[in-house]
This record gives sequence, structure tokens and C-alpha cells, in this order.
Amino acid sequence: MKVVVIQGPNLNMLGVREQQIYGPMKLEQIHAQMKDFADKNNMEIEFFQSNLEGEIVDKIQECYGEAQGIIINAAAYTHTSIAIRDAITAVAIPTIEVHISNIHRREEFRKENMIAPVCASSIVGFGPFGYHLAMLGMSQIMQEVQALQAQQAAAQQQQA
Ligand code: DQA
Repeated sequence: MKVVVIQGPNLNMLGVREQQIYGPMKLEQIHAQMKDFADKNNMEIEFFQSNLEGEIVDKIQECYGEAQGIIINAAAYTHTSIAIRDAITAVAIPTIEVHISNIHRREEFRKENMIAPVCASSIVGFGPFGYHLAMLGMSQIMQEVQALQAQQAAAQQQQA
């Protein structure tokens, strides 16, 4: 089971940008922890960061037929991007969105969220720990999908 982690604009600046909001951890450190979790839980994992909306759309489309789960922090595009929302809907892969900060407690414009309605779940305000929670959630979703597939395969065998 493969999960693709997609990070939006300015998240490559974690550890530098607005530490009072996002904390001191760098993106590479967050990804190292996620990789560790994936290795321990038999999950394949790939990381992608882009500052460009179209590249994020392309990456989501590439997940089709390749990945069984997406974890995305669309960053500022969360509040504006119908294109990213449509891409998530198009591939129909279980998607969890993460926000390091609590976007509901910040500026009004951050309350607008294009992505959340098409995601399985949203994790906000836990700092970088939110990515670990997303991994836990994703491993649960993947176990449920695998159990369903095993049930379907057993039912098909009985019919044959
Ligand atoms: C963010 C919240 C967004 O509003 C902001 O534009 C970001 C980061 C978060 O993780 O808290 O870049 O997605």
C-alpha cells in the first residue's frame, strides 16, 4: 500500500518561516518521521513539495492507479484552489488534509477551505504532530481497504 505526501507552497520554508506559528521543525525532519512510521507499518511512502498549483494537480493525477492514499497540506492553495479540489475528486483516492496551524483560529480568509469537503479527514492545529496523526489515520484506512478487498476476493472465489 502506497501513500503519497504532497506539500504545498512555502512548506519548504518550515523551520525558517513564522516559527511562532509553524514551529522550528524542518520539512525534512517531518518527512523522516513519516518515513520511519511507514517503514514500521509496511507502507510505501513518497514525498513531494511544490510551490506551483499546476505541479500539485499533476502530482495528484499521477497518484491515480499508483497510490492508495494521499496526505496533503495544500498550504495557501487550500483557501483558493478549485483545481486541486477537482484533482482530488477525480482520482478518488482516500485523502487526508493536514494543517500545522489551526486555520480556524487565524485570519478570516483561512476559514475558506476548498479541499476539506473532498477529503476523508482534516487534521488541524497539532503542529508537525498532525502529520503523524495523518499517518495513523491513513494506516487505519488502508487496513480497512485491504480487509474489504480480501472479503470481496473470498466472495468471488465462493461464487466460482
Ligand atoms: C497551512 C495554513 C495555510 O493557511 C497557510 O497558507 C500555510 C500553512 C498550515 O499548515 O497551517 O502555508 O496550511
